[in-house]
Amino acid sequence: MNKKRLPLIAGNWKMYKIPIEAENFVIELDKKVSSFTDREVLVCPTIISIPRVSEILRDSQIRVGVQNVFYEKEGPYTGEISPWMLTGLNVSYVICGHSERRQIFGENNKTISLKIQSVINCGMTPIFCIGEKSEEREKGLTFSIIEQQLIQGLSGIQTHKLVIAYEPVWAIGTGKNATPQQAQEVHSFIRKKLSEIYSKDFSEYIRILYGGSVKPDNIDSLMAQPDIDGVLVGGASLKIDSFARIIDFKV
Ligand code: 13P
Repeated sequence: MNKKRLPLIAGNWKMYKIPIEAENFVIELDKKVSSFTDREVLVCPTIISIPRVSEILRDSQIRVGVQNVFYEKEGPYTGEISPWMLTGLNVSYVICGHSERRQIFGENNKTISLKIQSVINCGMTPIFCIGEKSEEREKGLTFSIIEQQLIQGLSGIQTHKLVIAYEPVWAIGTGKNATPQQAQEVHSFIRKKLSEIYSKDFSEYIRILYGGSVKPDNIDSLMAQPDIDGVLVGGASLKIDSFARIIDFKV
């Protein structure tokens, strides 16, 4: 495989799977995809499944991530959990700023930036999600929206522990993925912006994932693009066979 950066194939399970389903799934997945060295695999179950899933995968190559945290360490924040509470639970990644969190729960670039910082402070890697809505794309605003999200979300952030996920909102859960060329165009723009914000070396090192209707039948052509370093998969990560085929992408 000729990829510059270690590909990351991540499943975002959103609000699906009760704990026993999550446990059985990872036991099965671990058997199916147990030996690989040229890619990294990640599952992000709901928070209630994290302790058991983490324990099951403790000696596995499959990594565990969570879908959201709050940025304070502790306090009167009903319903929230902090990254600090996850330490010791074998959690490697935290998704920050998913468009569903932005749209349904009112998160903005400022709060997302605080979350990114807090995740880094606790030794985990944020997966920072950005992406334009369909009306923004239609108005030709894709690049300015992406630039704004990057600049504001990464304000004050100094780290090498960072993953970016480009998820065009119009492609999420719609079955309408960005074409490999559309995705590559935005990924290469993101890398250029990262080199301006940080440095060329930094931008070459950071992994940029694509998310939005990734499926077994489009994974190979997406991963063939030079600036697509992995994928963040929703619906197709909920079934063993489709997720295993995505993990087994061929370039
Ligand atoms: P779908 O793969 O279901 O389109 O979801 C993508 C996503 O939101 C991953 O975070």
